[in-house]
Amino acid sequence: MKKLLISSILFFVCLHTIIAQIQNPLYKNSSAPTEARIDDLLQQMTLEEKVLQMTQQTYGFNTNVNNIEDEMKEVRPEIGSLIFRSINPVYRNEIMRKAMKESRLGIPILMGFDVIHGYRTVYPIPLAQACSWNRDLVMQACAVAAKESRLSGVDWTFSPMIDVARDPRWGRVAEGYGEDPYANSEFCVASVMGYQGTNLADQTSIAACLKHYIGYSLSEGGRDYNYSDVSAQTLWETFMPPYEAGVKAGVATLMSGFNDISGIPASANPYTLTEILKERWQHDGFVVSDWGSVDNLIAQGNAKDSKEAAYKSFIAGVEMDMVDNVYLENLPQLVEEGKIPMRKIDDAVRRILRVKFRLGLFDHPYVVELPYKERYYQPGSMVVAEKLAEESMVLLKNLNHTLPLSNSVKQIALIGPLVKDQVNMMGSWEGQGVADSVETIFEGFEKEFKGRAELNYAYGCNFEGDDESGFDEALTIAQKSDVIIACIGEKKSWSGENASKSTLALPAIQERLIAALKKTGKPIVLVLSNGRPIELGRLEPMADAILEIWQPGIAGGSPTAGIIAGRLNPSGKLAITFPLFTGQIPTYYNMRQSARPKISGYIDIPSDPKYKFGDGLSYTTFSYSDVRLSATKIGKDEKIIAEVEITNNGPMDGKETAMWYISDPVASISRPMIELKYFEKKALKVGETSTFKFEIDPMRDLSFPDTNGIKHLESGDFYLTIKNQKVKFEISSDL
Ligand code: NOJ
Repeated sequence: MKKLLISSILFFVCLHTIIAQIQNPLYKNSSAPTEARIDDLLQQMTLEEKVLQMTQQTYGFNTNVNNIEDEMKEVRPEIGSLIFRSINPVYRNEIMRKAMKESRLGIPILMGFDVIHGYRTVYPIPLAQACSWNRDLVMQACAVAAKESRLSGVDWTFSPMIDVARDPRWGRVAEGYGEDPYANSEFCVASVMGYQGTNLADQTSIAACLKHYIGYSLSEGGRDYNYSDVSAQTLWETFMPPYEAGVKAGVATLMSGFNDISGIPASANPYTLTEILKERWQHDGFVVSDWGSVDNLIAQGNAKDSKEAAYKSFIAGVEMDMVDNVYLENLPQLVEEGKIPMRKIDDAVRRILRVKFRLGLFDHPYVVELPYKERYYQPGSMVVAEKLAEESMVLLKNLNHTLPLSNSVKQIALIGPLVKDQVNMMGSWEGQGVADSVETIFEGFEKEFKGRAELNYAYGCNFEGDDESGFDEALTIAQKSDVIIACIGEKKSWSGENASKSTLALPAIQERLIAALKKTGKPIVLVLSNGRPIELGRLEPMADAILEIWQPGIAGGSPTAGIIAGRLNPSGKLAITFPLFTGQIPTYYNMRQSARPKISGYIDIPSDPKYKFGDGLSYTTFSYSDVRLSATKIGKDEKIIAEVEITNNGPMDGKETAMWYISDPVASISRPMIELKYFEKKALKVGETSTFKFEIDPMRDLSFPDTNGIKHLESGDFYLTIKNQKVKFEISSDL
């Protein structure tokens, strides 16, 4: 009797626990530890539900809230992720409601989108941002983008792109931070911090995604999606550092590239995806493939069919499949056949769920539905847009102080296809930017020169083609003006994905327009807007001044006019080299030494590029004191403090970026001739002096990786270079 009573009590206790667990499962308990919640959820998921979590589909464009049901029929409520293209939070909440209410377990959907340089408030393209050398502004821009995205229903951006890019024929140079590994690392960290904030669950943060892991920018010939031959040495010293920095900064996700890394595609590469990323760097978020890059393994000659492609990518370490549904269609069968262990599926799903938990999606799946006006273009966001555009602009040439324009300039000719342009100023991957909101160069000039000078405008010519019918009008207004501001460059569609070019030269019609204007004898200021370095071999000699404004985004007009007028002092410096001619590619500042440096070159063109990495003029002058080193000989565990005083001894307040470079002339693996190791930008008023400091940490700054990424620090002589000074110091094995 007693036994029966005890068994009944136990039975009821168990039943009660089971009912409680069904009604309020652990994974829904916001105070339980994340990993315990994931364990609980994984136990309850079917294989199909797990594979759906590993699937991303594209969906959106429908902003009609009343039409939601029609579109939503297509989406499975158990789907792991959607590319969310609407800007409507109401719409996102409707979709999310479907996931939360109609799926068996109520797992929130992760909404991703390409927020590359701003969401609605469009910032300068990333390549331009790098030229600002201002980590803080880059971080602020990403923070604004994150807030606007989250308020619109996006939880995850496919950004930053940190593919170190040294072939500007490749259109995607616009999307990254230029040619240098250190610069890419620094801006990578700034953008991850900006997007993700201090807590991913904040309603102002979104998850970031480092892409395109890895080596994509080496696509042969600069042709997008091509094979990339990446030596192990180059992989480690050029491509890995920004990724390692981003992972250390806590990035939630990475995207695997389209490219084939020396025969093993980036989206099926166990070495990079698992051995390095997950095992060595201990990344605990997930990797999403690029658009169809799993199925692309077939085209790359690496898989015979979709099933094999799914197997290879998954086993290598890609957890989420972007849009090709290859995982959905094949992984369940591969598990049933015993080819893929359930443990591996669970690990992949765990990683995806972890990011969803960290974003707080389980506890707060819906976003606040603010009216349009409160979501975008907030005053603070616009200030960042204008500042970043200003600091990104690079003054490349300024013959006889053509700029800033003197007060005697009373008639300004504004000529060219970009003067009143809005669409192209945004650049590629403009997110949810709208052209109507873009301030034109003309509008910037109207504000800036009101009451000071008269503006005469002519379109001049199209971006391309042979139509010279606009030349006459351009010449007429040029004749009656004191200066010509010629706004030429690239359309936004000429850079970005699948926008490779065989030449960096602008179409001949634009060069002909400038040649015709040159004949007027009036000073010419070239204002260049483009998404890659331009071949300036023929244009530069015709220009008195050149201002590179890149594709400055929503607020480029005022800073362009402000710099030309002298209200603002340019402070940008190139983060990428401008070749003199396209045939010089590759040309970048941190090349290795040639065996015969004096004679290594071309017989038909010079070897030196037109403008080098780090070039950029100011309206003021900065003088550098002699560099002081705290020691000139140290042991491997010691540090050297290098200091220099920089004085603004010119006529205008300005900002200077001190760039500290290291050279290691003799090493067991030869080193690039010079490598950027630190930069710092400061504002200096006229007459002001400030100390710029760089602490040399030998292991961080003087070591180099081998072909497996193991760092080596060798003793010997090193050089520190800043501006025109080069000082020697020694790492001694005796100390
Ligand atoms: C393909 C591009 O390569 C990648 O950068 C982008 O994030 C995805 N498409 C999603 O749009």
